[in-house]
Amino acid sequence: MDPLPDPIAALFPSASERGRVEDWLSGDLSRALLRIQAGPVIPTIDMAAFRAELRGYDFDAPRPLEDLLRWTIERMEQGIVQMANPRYFGLFNPGPNFPAQCADRIASLFNPQLASSGSSPVPVELERHVIRAVARRASLGEEATGHFATGGSESNYTALICALTAAAPGFAGDGVRAFAGPVRFYTSRDCHIAWLKIAHQAGVGRNALRLVDTDGGGRMDPRALLRAIAEDRANGAVPVMVVATAGTTGAGMIDPLHACADIARQEHLWYHIDAAWGGAALASNKLRPLLAGIERADSITIDAHKWWATTMGCALFITRHGHLLSEAFHASTSFMPSSVSAVDPYLNSAQWSRRFMGLRLFLALACAGWQGLGAHVERGVEVVEQIKERLVRLGWTVANDSSLAVLDVLPPAELGDVRALVRRVVASGRAWVAPTLFEGRDVVRICATNGQTGIGDVDALVSVLNERV
Ligand SMILES: Cc1ncc(COP(=O)(O)O)c(C=O)c1O
Repeated sequence: MDPLPDPIAALFPSASERGRVEDWLSGDLSRALLRIQAGPVIPTIDMAAFRAELRGYDFDAPRPLEDLLRWTIERMEQGIVQMANPRYFGLFNPGPNFPAQCADRIASLFNPQLASSGSSPVPVELERHVIRAVARRASLGEEATGHFATGGSESNYTALICALTAAAPGFAGDGVRAFAGPVRFYTSRDCHIAWLKIAHQAGVGRNALRLVDTDGGGRMDPRALLRAIAEDRANGAVPVMVVATAGTTGAGMIDPLHACADIARQEHLWYHIDAAWGGAALASNKLRPLLAGIERADSITIDAHKWWATTMGCALFITRHGHLLSEAFHASTSFMPSSVSAVDPYLNSAQWSRRFMGLRLFLALACAGWQGLGAHVERGVEVVEQIKERLVRLGWTVANDSSLAVLDVLPPAELGDVRALVRRVVASGRAWVAPTLFEGRDVVRICATNGQTGIGDVDALVSVLNERV
């Protein structure tokens, strides 16, 4: 018999070559991080030149991996807004913690298939352990279960599917035809607007989402919620779910969790809490009371890849009604290595093939403990407090009354228009903040996202915010 051809060395190098490249890569990434932390927050690359350069990659002739890695790191240093820069005070994208980065390396080597406990008994059990630990922290009860998802959007989508499945036993078979009228669900107008895509994707249509008025302070107004539900019922629509946001994207506001729970219960609706960002406060004994009422949710979303600073693609969906997950996502095949409906992730979640996402949070949590993770979250609040103090002293006005790590502020008149000011700050490359709308006003949104932001970074931000044109 003819021998098999050798493995393709470019894809599967020898052990010694692999070790050499890995050692070099580890060192180079550590050096890159130092440069990123000290460098500009914004991309510096000339995109026209980059596109021209990309045209050279016609994939005809192979290139040495080390050159490619060096080139990729260089272009990443020039070509993105730098989340790892401690002067990124931006959207909820964190500078990733190191244990989570290690988790990605380990998961990449083994590449376990987390669809089933048959092929990945240890990873599946480990993820279940972390989910239960977070569920306990949220006082959701020992029965609570769930899974890791790619992000808050997937997790919130799962909540809607559970709510629909709970509301109409025929939904699994007949879709929205199982309902006597058009479906409606409720969240505040300051919710994360991916809910519209979720409604579309779930087949209930974007009009199913009722954006409820806020109370003037960025929190859902419970009276407006009750009115909207009553109005919809009177018009023949079918309410299925109330979503409270615990940590709004724009302003870090927490909807009245108990009042929303009361309404959901009274109206027999699924109660979901989107704590994608603010849920991180569960880690801190000091901040946890801000989330009082979370224990009354039917389901919650928490993104570990926000304030818990794991690498991207790490969210948790937790519910006290595990049987609904199994009902909503069941499937039957003969080729899967196991089919235990309450355990196997492919039978309980939207994904099939699945990455070992939960290891990121497991390692971060095991390494820092709740105490360390909580201290990281509290540190974010302290960073924002320090910024607030300085800005107020300089004549800025605070717009949001949040106890979390997002500050919405209005500049003194002499600094001019908010959007122009934000453009100036971002263009300087010295810090990154966002403009947003809070209760009808343009504000500068400043969020602590990086666990290594220091006083020098705070001062640099305050200084660039106050520069006049
Ligand atoms: C409150 C809230 N929910 C959901 C999401 C969406 O999460 P992801 O981007 O992880 O899909 C976000 C993102 O910022 C958010 O702030």
